[in-house]
Amino acid sequence: KSRIGILTSGGDAPGMNAAIRAVFRAASECNIEIVGIRRGFAGLIDGNLFLMDRSHVANIIHQGGTILGTSRSETFKTPEGRRIAADVLQNAEVDALFVIGGDGSFRGADLFNDETGIPTIGIPGSIDNDIPGTDFSIGFDTAINTALESIDKIRDTASSHGRLFFVEVMGKSSDLIAIESGIAGGAEYLILPDNKHAMDDLCSRLTQAFDAGKRYAIVVVAEGACPGCSFQIAKEVSSRISMESRVCVLGHTQRGGSPTARDRVLAAKLGVSAVNAYMKGYAGVMVGEVRRSVILTPFDKVITGRQKPEPNIIRLSHILTK
Ligand code: F6P
Repeated sequence: KSRIGILTSGGDAPGMNAAIRAVFRAASECNIEIVGIRRGFAGLIDGNLFLMDRSHVANIIHQGGTILGTSRSETFKTPEGRRIAADVLQNAEVDALFVIGGDGSFRGADLFNDETGIPTIGIPGSIDNDIPGTDFSIGFDTAINTALESIDKIRDTASSHGRLFFVEVMGKSSDLIAIESGIAGGAEYLILPDNKHAMDDLCSRLTQAFDAGKRYAIVVVAEGACPGCSFQIAKEVSSRISMESRVCVLGHTQRGGSPTARDRVLAAKLGVSAVNAYMKGYAGVMVGEVRRSVILTPFDKVITGRQKPEPNIIRLSHILTK
């Protein structure tokens, strides 16, 4: 009987549990056993493994976070760490490794696959949606809806007080959460890595809006533009345009919560496709969905590529939010 080890790695993302469940159920259909690995690559190196049964994936499809736990492992970045990890899997008679995570996790997975010959397959899970080889990563849809819910609430208080609000959303190296939650939330302006110094433009845009009768405004700031410096920007803009402002950093609230239907369906598709890919003998690849088709992308392409926002969404954001 064949055995697949599964772990979640890096930042957790809503829908990871739905993906674990899908992998378990699809594997069971093919008579494959699933070994759960707790706390990502760090847990793998520590031998934190357990044989999963149906009860482990019962009642988890709607849960945020990851039942397996996660970590960012420094040891797995070393050849020695990866060798220990391979020994652990071999001792547990595990034939393949599934990694649910982001591009950082796939960097380790790529090396592991090549060095050890243990077939490794990736499933993209990250709220940032910055992984090449898939239109959407698991967790992004939930995260933008969580951000949107907060922006809508902030709009209530911003309009009551006639205030300018700066809302900082997550995305270390990606601006998609800011762009999509900003468009959906009717933000007046987006501050992204590319325009973070455009203070003159931001101030004149806000002045125009207020001159035209607007009483309040919401500016969405991408974390990647300037982590934590929303406060500085707010202070500068407030004094330049003489308008009271407040800052709200949404932070890790965006990582939690029950996954949306979109994220659960995506997790289901990719989880089942990962098992299919393994059955067909693929290794060193990530499963993704591009224009509604499931595709496999070699890890080295995933980790060297860059997922850019599609031009249409950028155009939209220029028209509607600046
Ligand atoms: O990669 C997902 C992400 O949520 C980023 O948007 C954010 O910058 C980072 O993780 C935060 O990581 P940590 O939870 O380790 O602080």
